Amino acid sequence: MKEASNTKPLISELEIHHRISQLAKEIAGNFSVGNMVLMVVLKGGFIFAADLLRRLHGRGLDPAVEFIRASSYGEGEKSTGKVEISIDTSRDLKGMQVLIVDDIIDSGRTLKAMSEYIWTKSPVSIQSCTLLDKPSRREVDFSVDYAGFEIPDIFVVGYGLDLGQNFRFLPFIGTVEADKQNKPK
Ligand code: IMP
Ligand code: MG
Repeated sequence: MKEASNTKPLISELEIHHRISQLAKEIAGNFSVGNMVLMVVLKGGFIFAADLLRRLHGRGLDPAVEFIRASSYGEGEKSTGKVEISIDTSRDLKGMQVLIVDDIIDSGRTLKAMSEYIWTKSPVSIQSCTLLDKPSRREVDFSVDYAGFEIPDIFVVGYGLDLGQNFRFLPFIGTVEADKQNKPK
């Protein structure tokens, strides 16, 4: 089992929650009640989306929730570059205001692919929101509408983000100490 003691905090639980409240306020100003869907990117986006959803409700919105899966990472830190999308919903997105919610935007490939895919379902609008943004890593032309924190080019875990499926449980965002990663050989 990977322990929290192997990690070094970068963004605290308190900072995360404070920032999500601000994001919810900003988002609430741009969406109307009744036809909003949070399209949560699995797996990394689920914890952020759960907190954001409740803050949006606190701001008077009533989003529905759907899940979309993107796989672009293997077991380590290196992206394969290819994004595979699968969606598990029979919901008609026609006329809906979609907010894609993910943990982090890195190369931008995942959100770009998601957005292009969702447009084929005829929503009225698509916006995107990530907790983290690594602007220096962008490889495709995509700008996220709402981002919690800009971070440098470092690999982070916690609050839904994983390294080889570990560390998602951490309540904060942190880095994994190099000698403690225990990556498969
Ligand atoms: P993109 O398609 O390159 O923008 O990558 C987005 C996906 O890569 C995210 O949804 C994460 O799953 C993963 N990812 C990118 N950077 C990190 C990181 O620092 N820690 C954990 N996962 C990451
Ligand atoms: Mg992801």
